[in-house]
Parts: sequence; C-alpha cells; structure tokens
Amino acid sequence: MVSRAAIVLLIGLLGMVYQATQLPPPNRSDEIEPSNGEIHVVSPRIRLGDGRYLAYRELGVPKEKAKHKIIIVHGFGSSKEMNFLAPQELIDELGVYLLHYDRAGYGESDPNPKRSLKSEVLDIQELADQLQLGPKFYVVGVSMGSYATWSCLKYIPHRLAGVALVAPVINYQWPSLPEKLIKEDYRRKLMRWAMWLAKYSPTLLHWWVTQKWLPSTSVIEKNPKFFNKRDIEILKMIPGFPMLTKEKLMEEDVFDTLRHDWMVAFGRWEFDPTELSNPFPQNSTLAHIWQGFEDKVVPSQIQRFVSEKLPWIRYHEVPDGGHLIIHYSGLCEAILRALLLGEENVSYKPRLSSTFVF
Ligand SMILES: *[C@@H]1O[C@H](CO)[C@@H](O)[C@H](O)[C@H]1NC(C)=O
Ligand SMILES: *[C@@H]1O[C@H](CO)[C@@H](O)[C@H](O)[C@H]1NC(C)=O
Ligand SMILES: *[C@@H]1O[C@H](CO)[C@@H](O)[C@H](O)[C@H]1NC(C)=O
Repeated sequence: MVSRAAIVLLIGLLGMVYQATQLPPPNRSDEIEPSNGEIHVVSPRIRLGDGRYLAYRELGVPKEKAKHKIIIVHGFGSSKEMNFLAPQELIDELGVYLLHYDRAGYGESDPNPKRSLKSEVLDIQELADQLQLGPKFYVVGVSMGSYATWSCLKYIPHRLAGVALVAPVINYQWPSLPEKLIKEDYRRKLMRWAMWLAKYSPTLLHWWVTQKWLPSTSVIEKNPKFFNKRDIEILKMIPGFPMLTKEKLMEEDVFDTLRHDWMVAFGRWEFDPTELSNPFPQNSTLAHIWQGFEDKVVPSQIQRFVSEKLPWIRYHEVPDGGHLIIHYSGLCEAILRALLLGEENVSYKPRLSSTFVF
C-alpha cells in the first residue's frame, strides 16, 4: 500500500526538518567518560515546577550587562549546541545575550510526556524567569522550533520584546490556508501519512525508520528534492545529526521525543497563527519572518500568504535560499540587525515575481 518511494520521501521530509538547525557539537571532551563513552550532564540546568530539568547554554555578553536578551529555540533533532553565527563584534556592540536551551527531551533536558504548544511556552517563560531575564525578552525560533515561537506570540505576547521566525513550519491544518494554495502540494499528503503513522502506528513507524534498506540519512540529506543548490553546499560542511542515526532512533526515548515533537508541530493547533493580533502595535520592526525563496521544505508561496495575513510581521526572503538559510553567511547578522535595530537589508526584500517551480 505504501510504496518504498513514499516512505523514503517521508523520511526525507522528516530529515529535512531536522536538518535545519544542526551544526556539529563543539568538542567537549570533558563530557565523555573515557571508559564507557557515556555523556554526562555538565550544562547548567533549571528545575521546572513539575520537576523536569531543562539544560541551557549562555553566550554573548553577560546578562547583567546585556541590552538585549534573546532566547533561541532549536528545531527538530537539534539541541542547544546549534550555532547562531552572528559576528562577535556585532554581539558586543549591541550588547546581546544569547540563551540556548534544550527543548524537552532533547540534549540534556528531561522529556515532557505532556508536550503541547502551550507547554513549550511555559518552559520558555519559566527558564526566562528563573534566570531573571526581566519582564521582556526576544525569541528566535528556527524551523520547527518556530511552533514554540508562534505559541509565545499567542500565549505570552506581553513578555516579548520581539520575535524572529526563521524558515518557520507551515502546518497544513491551519484553517486559513486556502485550498487552492495547498491542494497540489505533495508535502501535505506526506504530512498526513506521517501523522497517521505517528499517531496510530508508532511501532510500525519505528520499525520503518530503523530498517536497513532505508538509505542512510546522508543520502537523504543531499537529496535535491528537499534542498536547493546552496543548501547542498551547506550540507557538505555539516556532518551527521547525532540524534538521527539509526542506532539513536532505536532508542525508545529518542524516538518518542522526536515523534511527539513532530506531532505537536504538525497536529491540530488550538489557534491559527494568521489570526494572531499584533503584540507590538507601537513598533513595526519587532516581528520578522525569514524565508528562502527556493525552500523546498516550506514553500515560500505559502509563507508569503501567511505573512500577508499578518501585516505587523516583516517578511524577508533570501532569493537563492533553501531551507538552511540560518547557516548562510551574513544571515544571523541580518536577523539581529532587523530585530534589534529595525534595519532592513535590501538583499532580502521579497521579489515580486513568483516563477520558481517546485
Ligand atoms: C577535543 O579536545 C581535546 C582536548 O580538550 C583534544 O585532545 C582532542 O584531540 C579534540 N578532538 C577533536 C576531534 O578535535
Ligand atoms: C546585506 O546582505 C548581503 C548578503 O548577505 C551582504 O553581502 C551585505 O553586506 C549586507 N548589507 C548590509 C548593509 O549589511
Ligand atoms: C522600534 O524598535 C527599534 C528596534 O527594533 C528601535 O530602534 C526603535 O527606536 C523603536 N521605535 C519606537 C517608536 O519604539
């Protein structure tokens, strides 16, 4: 019933999402116990109200001196070790404090069996409060991490100094998406399949993703079906994804974290982002979407539609960009300049024509 090609596509689809954010973890040999190779928890952590621990990593200027505090929300299969490659001079000049954390179940954070759109927000808020970031902070969500960012806009708008969503997910179940825009989209069908499997047949899905006949993720990673030319260049420089090897996927807790995370992102939402009200009425440069025009994972036509529904969001487009724009040189700088200074780089002004064919 399900052809092998469909499954490969499906895994690829998952693959591309987890691709989005990861760079090699830094060489932290202090974490490795030489005798058994086990990773020890060495990062600072906070204990949440429900008893779970959340691990984090602080970068940039010390928070006591910072003018801007930014929480970075990682994507699928990624972690707080992802890079946000903004130039150090800019970080110093603007006084930027960056807080990376492992979302529930990732890296060194405990899983949350009750993960939801809202629980992700409460984790962010509790983290900010325990670390005393003050009444307002910025949130930058990357790829699938953007579902938590949309939720911040919904549930804690009063806590936000500004937001940026980078190659954010499109959920085909959002009621506002016009049928004519998504009818022919093969990604939508794949998502349905994947959701059905994840929901009703996790054992089967688990069996599939750990089968030997599946191509290695490295093959999928270089698949032009999901990545454009610039993405493939980037992928050549990024080694594999620690959480997504077959060995790792065999581990039930890793698989469950990925499965639940995916189901929350692509399941039914209790709100439609295109109906959110403007949390920043006094300033028009505090909410941004960054999108690659040639993104094959998240089509720019749909992203444009979403942005047009939300005139208070500034829409930026990388003309030759695919899904991995966060890794492109200069992009993190542009994100910070737009978010913190309201500056606009003309290179990322969306073009009028829409001739790119999927
Ligand atoms: C990682 O760092 C340790 C010293 O801290 C060094 O001995 C080791 O060679 C490094 N590994 C790599 C792959 O760079
Ligand atoms: C705008 O972006 C382009 C492409 O990344 C970069 O080469 C250029 O330096 C940027 N301009 C400014 C003023 O930051
Ligand atoms: C709007 O925000 C930008 C930073 O993004 C800031 O430079 C500017 O002063 C703000 N304007 C108002 C009216 O608050």
